[in-house]
Amino acid sequence: MVSVAVGLTEPWLTGVVVDNPAQIESVLNNIVYVLFAQSGQAGTNGKARDLGNLVVFDDPEAVDTIVKTPALFRKNFSLISALGFSRFNTNDEDWAIRRAITQDIYLAAAKPAQQPFVAEAYEASLSRSEATLPAIQQALFAASMTIFYRAFALVPDMATTLSLLDRVRDVLRRLQYYSWVSPTTAERATTIKDARTVIADFASMLMSDTRAAAEMKRFRTEATSIEGFSPVEEFVMNLFAGVETTVTTALWVMDRLGANQQVQERIHAEILSGEAQTPYTDCIINETMRYFPPIPFLTREVSADTVLDGRELRAGQLIMVSIVGVHQNPAFWENPRTFDASRKEFIDNSFDRRAFIPFLTGPRMCGGARLGRLEVKEAVLAIVRQFAFSRADDVIRFDYALALRPAQGSSVGVSRR
Ligand code: HEM
Repeated sequence: MVSVAVGLTEPWLTGVVVDNPAQIESVLNNIVYVLFAQSGQAGTNGKARDLGNLVVFDDPEAVDTIVKTPALFRKNFSLISALGFSRFNTNDEDWAIRRAITQDIYLAAAKPAQQPFVAEAYEASLSRSEATLPAIQQALFAASMTIFYRAFALVPDMATTLSLLDRVRDVLRRLQYYSWVSPTTAERATTIKDARTVIADFASMLMSDTRAAAEMKRFRTEATSIEGFSPVEEFVMNLFAGVETTVTTALWVMDRLGANQQVQERIHAEILSGEAQTPYTDCIINETMRYFPPIPFLTREVSADTVLDGRELRAGQLIMVSIVGVHQNPAFWENPRTFDASRKEFIDNSFDRRAFIPFLTGPRMCGGARLGRLEVKEAVLAIVRQFAFSRADDVIRFDYALALRPAQGSSVGVSRR
């Protein structure tokens, strides 16, 4: 049996019923499968079932309290700190200073006047793509990266950035894994070394570009009060947070279109109609983010003894927020375990905002939520115009690193329209 780092004393998968046991290839994917399996299945006390010794919250009201009380439920540094520090994993004044460096830039990049550029970035990148899943995925990454860099008035070195992002994903996957399963000393050392190397390689790339180097200087100037501040660490985590989640969402929409030809044709017709309103397209995007939240769970550290949702929590304890569980809570959604491309709650706009939090809410919500929404919409419009998808089966396979992606090599077929 593996030894685990978060204080789990029992084999934490015992007795859990999962939908795709054959596909469970890694501990990380298991965690996500468990969250899916447990969603809506109250434990003995009527609350969410825990994951080992981790208290899991999936009640929308309790989760709303957690995300709106960041002083009590704090970001925990341990997970990704080998990759450095950014607004993603810091708290208090440190976080506020870091947030100010990028927040206005993300808001400006999502303004309505930017929409044609975002649309063109996806349209053009996809029109150069071959009709295969890996090629479309690369094209989506290229477009999203172009948009992210452009927000900072920069132009990416595409090939180098793409390969560095693959390395960031690999390191993050290992860091996540080791927060559940204790690494050996050698594994820990190798992962930290790989994390430092990828940051150093990012730094070389950015510093060799005059404009990027100037932007890193601006970051530094705005963070002089933060000891040991690294502008490259800040930039890399922001880039990864923005690009990975956006591309992931578009990949899941493709996956779902492939699973249902009728839905696909209806959405294709809606998009070709040229109408300004696209309710079914908006609905499938929302339903995709409900069913496959790009960030499926979060952890937080409790800063003082407290009671939440009838659970006693101690200072220093780690808790989990299951976004999957919130999104499948049967008190808030009808048939929550069904993927419904024309889900009533979205079409009628009648859903409870606390039960749909793909970007989170509260002070620590996604910094690029508006840009992310704009990008996903334009990506889906371009994808549906240009490609058609099919599926040989409807078995869901995950690939979880920091974001929840469809596994590579899934059975989605692609053709150009
Ligand atoms: C579909 C697209 C996206 C989704 C679903 C998403 C989701 C999220 C979620 C759930 C968090 C909170 C994580 C936590 O509390 O641990 C987050 C944070 C963040 N996201 Fe996004 N995101 C998306 C796109 C973007 C984009 C496009 C950008 C930037 C260009 C971005 C930048 C950030 C940043 C900077 C944070 C940290 C916020 C803070 O604590 O200050 N995201 N995102």
